[in-house]
Amino acid sequence: MNTAEKILSVCFLLQGVCCRDFSISLPEKIQALNGSCVIIKCRFDINETYDKDISERAAGVWYKDKHDRISSPVFNSSMQNSFIKGKITGKLKDKDCNTVFYDVTSNHSGQYFFRIEGEGGLKWTYRKGNVSVNVIESPVNPRVVLYVDGQELQGQQEVLEGRSVSLRCSAETLCSSPPATLTWSSTAKIPLSKSSKLKELIISDLNFTAAPRHHRVTFTCSISYQLQNKNRTAHSSITLHVQYATQISNSSCSSTNVTVCFCEVDGNPYPVVEWYLSGRPVSNSSSTFISKERLSNTSLRSFISLHQSLTHSNTLLCVSKNTHGNATQLFHLDFIIQKESRTLLFILIGAAAGALVVVMLCAVTYTCVRLSTKLKAQTETVDTYASLQLSAAQNLEYDTLNIKKREDTK
Ligand SMILES: *[C@@H]1O[C@H](CO)[C@@H](O)[C@H](O)[C@H]1NC(C)=O
Ligand SMILES: *[C@@H]1O[C@H](CO)[C@@H](O)[C@H](O)[C@H]1NC(C)=O
Ligand SMILES: *[C@@H]1O[C@H](CO)[C@@H](O)[C@H](O)[C@H]1NC(C)=O
Ligand SMILES: *[C@@H]1O[C@H](CO)[C@@H](O)[C@H](O)[C@H]1NC(C)=O
Ligand SMILES: *[C@@H]1O[C@H](CO)[C@@H](O)[C@H](O)[C@H]1NC(C)=O
Ligand SMILES: *[C@@H]1O[C@H](CO)[C@@H](O)[C@H](O)[C@H]1NC(C)=O
Ligand SMILES: *[C@@H]1O[C@H](CO)[C@@H](O)[C@H](O)[C@H]1NC(C)=O
Ligand SMILES: *[C@@H]1O[C@H](CO)[C@@H](O)[C@H](O)[C@H]1NC(C)=O
Ligand SMILES: *[C@@H]1O[C@H](CO)[C@@H](O)[C@H](O)[C@H]1NC(C)=O
Ligand SMILES: *[C@@H]1O[C@H](CO)[C@@H](O)[C@H](O)[C@H]1NC(C)=O
Ligand SMILES: *[C@@H]1O[C@H](CO)[C@@H](O)[C@H](O)[C@H]1NC(C)=O
Ligand SMILES: *[C@@H]1O[C@H](CO)[C@@H](O)[C@H](O)[C@H]1NC(C)=O
Repeated sequence: MNTAEKILSVCFLLQGVCCRDFSISLPEKIQALNGSCVIIKCRFDINETYDKDISERAAGVWYKDKHDRISSPVFNSSMQNSFIKGKITGKLKDKDCNTVFYDVTSNHSGQYFFRIEGEGGLKWTYRKGNVSVNVIESPVNPRVVLYVDGQELQGQQEVLEGRSVSLRCSAETLCSSPPATLTWSSTAKIPLSKSSKLKELIISDLNFTAAPRHHRVTFTCSISYQLQNKNRTAHSSITLHVQYATQISNSSCSSTNVTVCFCEVDGNPYPVVEWYLSGRPVSNSSSTFISKERLSNTSLRSFISLHQSLTHSNTLLCVSKNTHGNATQLFHLDFIIQKESRTLLFILIGAAAGALVVVMLCAVTYTCVRLSTKLKAQTETVDTYASLQLSAAQNLEYDTLNIKKREDTK
């Protein structure tokens, strides 16, 4: 109820108590969608001397912009065809003049005056009260309000994780068939709730607990009208900003000549990363080189390279901090080194074993060749063939030596 309507109603009530005269209660302004309908809420009263003149047969008449006797009304409930298609939905006998106009177009924008025509002398135009109908092309954007723990939050303030968030979308519903609907959508996959209708106001709440995954997510509320010719929608959006404690999303260590560890952290506000070697804070130096990489407004990757001489320390701790909480990741360095050196040892053993097998094979081949040469030399007298075989065997031996040398350098 707007102010004008309230004032009119107050007059209406006062007169009801005192001595009833002609009065009307109408909304000051109504908006209507082009191509849709308009509902006019209307109550009237008459001078008590005419009470006998009002019956089921009374007619409700609407004038537009003018109300003098010479101009013709735009609607007359006693007539089959009026300029405006419509219906008096209220019972005039009960002083209810609620009216609906259909197929509203921009031609219907204007100020409307009501007239009651009863039997006998009851014929009265309510000149003092009018309703302004404004035909609009598109619906008005809904209103989206952010509530945190039941308190309305304005502007681009940040919400702390764990708080209960309620996004309330509301819109004044304009006359339409079927009625308008509100729908929520968001830039992230989040389950969204349905709408509820409260008289002329349609409301849809989206309730959830603020979490890091809601950070920078935009929520959009849309109001939709299904009209004959085209569908009309309007929408409003809100982007949520969530502050949350740091989390370590990924971390790892690898060891070769140097030990390199990294920590990937996320948090809002932007977190800081600190490293502790056997419980002692590590600073950026030539033997403990620390570098960082910004991944986003809320995440970073911090690297630490430890010189061989430092890896005798047992533990390395990665600590991520922001104002809402800390996160830690512990690395057991001796274990990493042992694991690395053990694999190195396995490689060496494997290589040595391989080499040994090759040597043995060659030795066997060599002996066999020599034996067969001897045998051949004894049976046949083809010296050239034997010498060729010999040189091939010598080449084999040479290859084996080379392999051994390579193993030594590893
Ligand atoms: C009702 O109408 C009569 C006659 O027209 C008039 O005398 C009377 O004052 C009116 N009543 C009120 C409350 O105005
Ligand atoms: C209102 O809708 C009608 C069709 O239903 C269209 O012809 C007319 O241009 C619209 N009015 C305005 C102001 O756009
Ligand atoms: C309304 O229609 C009735 C019946 O046709 C007619 O008698 C009456 O004069 C009309 N009212 C106006 C204000 O034109
Ligand atoms: C508006 O009224 C004019 C004249 O009365 C008429 O020619 C026109 O078709 C009307 N427009 C609509 C959308 O009804
Ligand atoms: C309709 O009512 C408003 C106030 O509600 C008034 O300002 C306006 O002049 C009225 N229109 C006519 C044509 O009397
Ligand atoms: C959502 O929260 C609001 C206020 O916090 C509450 O009034 C409303 O009932 C809640 N809605 C649902 C569906 O839980
Ligand atoms: C309007 O929307 C409804 C429901 O979303 C759909 O079924 C219909 O086809 C749409 N009409 C037009 C003209 O786009
Ligand atoms: C962790 O980081 C490593 C190196 O950047 C990457 O290969 C791996 O896929 C990441 N794991 C996860 C779960 O993000
Ligand atoms: C290890 O150190 C040696 C000699 O200092 C160097 O040639 C080699 O590239 C290093 N390897 C790695 C993986 O850093
Ligand atoms: C550590 O120092 C080097 C230069 O010595 C620099 O490039 C690097 O950004 C520093 N790291 C941090 C975390 O300050
Ligand atoms: C990062 O933050 C700045 C300001 O703090 C903002 O303008 C920018 O849009 C943000 N970018 C992303 C990808 O979050
Ligand atoms: C984070 O750790 C620091 C000490 O390193 C401590 O003072 C602080 O209270 C911790 N903050 C939270 C939120 O746990």
